[in-house]
Amino acid sequence: MKSQKQIKSVFNNILVTGGCGFIGSNFIRYLLKEENYTGKIINLDKLTYAGNPENLRDIAADFKTRYIFEKADICDAASLEKIFTKHDIDAICHFAAESHVDRSIKEPSNFVQTNIIGTFNLLELAKSRGDKLKIFHHVSTDEVYGSLGEKGLFKETTSYKPNSPYSASKAASDQMARAYFKTFGLPVTISNCSNNYGPYQFPEKLIPLIIINALEGKPLPVYGDGKNVRDWLYVEDHCRAVWQIMNHGRKGQTYNIGGKAEMENIKIVRMICDILDEIKPAKDGKKRRNLITFVADRPGHDRRYAIDFSKINKEIGWSPKESFKSGIKKTIKWYLANTAWVKSIKTGAYNDWIRQQYGES
Ligand code: NAD
Ligand code: TYD
Repeated sequence: MKSQKQIKSVFNNILVTGGCGFIGSNFIRYLLKEENYTGKIINLDKLTYAGNPENLRDIAADFKTRYIFEKADICDAASLEKIFTKHDIDAICHFAAESHVDRSIKEPSNFVQTNIIGTFNLLELAKSRGDKLKIFHHVSTDEVYGSLGEKGLFKETTSYKPNSPYSASKAASDQMARAYFKTFGLPVTISNCSNNYGPYQFPEKLIPLIIINALEGKPLPVYGDGKNVRDWLYVEDHCRAVWQIMNHGRKGQTYNIGGKAEMENIKIVRMICDILDEIKPAKDGKKRRNLITFVADRPGHDRRYAIDFSKINKEIGWSPKESFKSGIKKTIKWYLANTAWVKSIKTGAYNDWIRQQYGES
C-alpha cells in the first residue's frame, strides 16, 4: 500500500452541498478540525428530513467567520446563482442527494428531481464560473454498478447496472458530471464509495436503526435471509478520501472508495447486539439477539457490493484506517453518548417513516 500525499489546498471558498446530512456534516467537521484547510466553507442545504443543523452546531459556533450556512434547494437554479455570486465559489463538493434506497422504492420522484436535476443545475452554474472554478467533486455510490455475485470486486471500469431508483438517479448524475468534463472541460472528479457508517447517520439506514432499536428493546428488522453483503467504510475514512481526490485527483477521473470490510447484514446485527449487551446490558437482562426479526425482502435487493480501491491507493496513496471492528465500537459508543442528538432526530419525519416501513412507531 502506498502512503498518502500531503495537502496544501489552493481552495478559498468551498461550496459543500448537503452539508447538514450524515457524510456532508462529517466532511465539514473533518476539513475544519482535522485538516489544515484555512479558507471558507459555504454549506448549502435544503434541510430535508435528512438534513439536521444540530449536526454542525459546534462548528457553527467555533468557526463563525469561516463556516457559512445557506438554506437552499439545488433544484432552484435562481437561488443557487445568487449563492455562487455572493460567495465567489472556487470549489464544489457535491453531497446533496436523496440517499435512501427504501424511500426511492416508495417515492422515486424526489430522487429524480434532487439527484438528477439538482446535479445538472450545479454543473451548469459551475460551468458559468469559467476559470474561477478549480474543482467540482461529485460524490457518488458503488450502487451504480449493480450487484455482484459471490466473487469479484467493483472496479472503475465496471459497467453501470443500477437496480434501484436511488442508484439509477445517482448513475444519471455521475454520467452528467462526466459529460461536463468531456464536453465543456469542467474540472470534474467523481468518487463511487461503498456503505458508510459512523456518527450523525440518520437512523433509517441499517446500522443506526439497529443500534437505536436495540437500545429501546424494539424488533431488529433484517431483510430476506440477512445474507446480503455490503463493504463498510467508516465515514471519516470517506471524508479523507474525498479531500485527497479534490486536491490530488486527476480531472475527469472516477475513483472507487471502499473499506475492505465485507460483511453480511445478519453478522453486523448480531455484532451490534453483542457489543451493546457487553457495554450496556438490557434492563431485563435479556440478550438482544432475541430481538432479531426477519422481514420481507426489499424489492430488487442487491446481493453483494465490494470495492477494488487500488486506483486511489496507487495514484493518491489513500487506504482506509479504521477496521470494521474498531469503527462499529466507536459508532455504538457515539450513539450512546449522544442521546440528545438521537432525541432531536426522532421527530415526526422519523416516526412517520418507521411506521410506514415497519408498521410500528
Ligand atoms: P443524507 O441523506 O444523510 O444527507 C443528504 C443531505 O442532502 C441532507 O442534509 C439533505 O437536507 C440534503 N438535500 C437533499 N435534497 C436536497 C436538495 N434538493 N437541495 C439541497 N440539499 C438537499 O445522505 P448521506 O448519507 O450523507 O450521503 C451524501 C452523499 O453521499 C449522497 O450523494 C450519497 O449518494 C453519497 N453516498 C452515500 C453513502 C452512504 O452510505 N450513506 C455511500 C456512498 C455515497
Ligand atoms: P442501507 O443501510 O439501507 O444501505 P443500502 O441499501 O444503501 O446498502 O441497508 C444496508 C443493508 O441492510 C441492505 O442490504 C439492506 C439491509 N437492511 C435490513 O436488513 N434491514 C433494515 O431495516 C435496513 C434499513 C436495511
